[in-house]
Amino acid sequence: MAPIKTVGVVGTGVIGASWTALFLSHGLKVLVSDPAPGAADKLAAFIKQVWPTLERMGIDNDANPDNYEFVGKDLGEHIKECDFIQENAPERVELKTKLLAELDRNAREDVIIASSSSGLPSSKFVGECQHPERVLIGHPFNPPHLMPLVEVVPHQGTSDSVVKDALAFYKSVGRKPVHVKQEVPGFAANRLQSALCNEAYSLVSRGVLSAEDLDACVTTSIGPRWAVVGPFLANAMGGGGGSDGFKHLLEHLGPAARVWAEDMNAHAFTWTPENVAALTSSVGEELKGKDVAALERQRDERLVDMFKAKGHRRTSVSSIDY
Ligand SMILES: NC(=O)c1ccc[n+]([C@@H]2O[C@H](COP(=O)([O-])OP(=O)(O)OC[C@H]3O[C@@H](n4cnc5c(N)ncnc54)[C@H](O)[C@@H]3O)[C@@H](O)[C@H]2O)c1
Repeated sequence: MAPIKTVGVVGTGVIGASWTALFLSHGLKVLVSDPAPGAADKLAAFIKQVWPTLERMGIDNDANPDNYEFVGKDLGEHIKECDFIQENAPERVELKTKLLAELDRNAREDVIIASSSSGLPSSKFVGECQHPERVLIGHPFNPPHLMPLVEVVPHQGTSDSVVKDALAFYKSVGRKPVHVKQEVPGFAANRLQSALCNEAYSLVSRGVLSAEDLDACVTTSIGPRWAVVGPFLANAMGGGGGSDGFKHLLEHLGPAARVWAEDMNAHAFTWTPENVAALTSSVGEELKGKDVAALERQRDERLVDMFKAKGHRRTSVSSIDY
């Protein structure tokens, strides 16, 4: 694979715009396409809005927010200039199948085509590609310009070297790529999120506690803990640390956790209109009198503070410790 200097970003909605800003902050040139009217203006406004945040995170010396070109509804002949392509079109199998076939037909043969797809595994939409071995999923967490995780998910025909190069590329732009080795629906992070949300929905719809208190349970306990140590490391520590800490915790708390799991299964959230109404009402109470846009800005500021506190340095990949 040639050194990556120019990235093609296909589709500039929520995810494509955020990837574009991230790539620019790493000194890359970005060629962008999107068929929606007004997409170029929306992208320009987005980059302007998030650039100060990226500067606060620490951008590369040669980073330039203007080093991109909105080339039109598709990449056209510009695709030949791209050293890596990140696809961010809507999550529809027919659309992605047609789009991936077109990108694959026109991109240079040495170029990786990564899809941001959050649910569709790439095996579902590489059927018309001549070189499916260079296609995989590079699934970010929203917003990709702030969230380090990228799930790299190959399909069975993706070549090993493409997986390796994609992992290296995402690392080079300050991300924490993980290799998801099988195409399970929702990949890994969204499945974990769903498991927690399903239990949260169950507890709140049953009236066990309010949405506000449930959110507090997460932001004041497991949230901060899991921001610094994942569940496995946390459990090893909870079991006294050392090489048998994890095993000890399973033996010690495992029986109780199994009873909790049985109760959770017995009360699994069901998506009835009544349950959804109960949830919506409790969330409505939580939001009363709050300015959500201001809260979103505060969330992003705090995320930047947290990543900085954890030693995130965009310009020195080797020092990143998540
Ligand atoms: N929103 C999220 O939280 C999130 C997180 C991770 C991954 N994703 C994935 O990223 C992808 C994009 O999602 P999004 O939330 O940015 O959607 P979005 O609706 O915000 O943006 C999609 C963009 O694609 C454009 N588009 C439509 N047809 C196109 C085509 N043929 N070629 C190129 N562009 C086209 C649209 O004009 C739009 O700007 C999806 O696969 C989604 O699953 C989304």
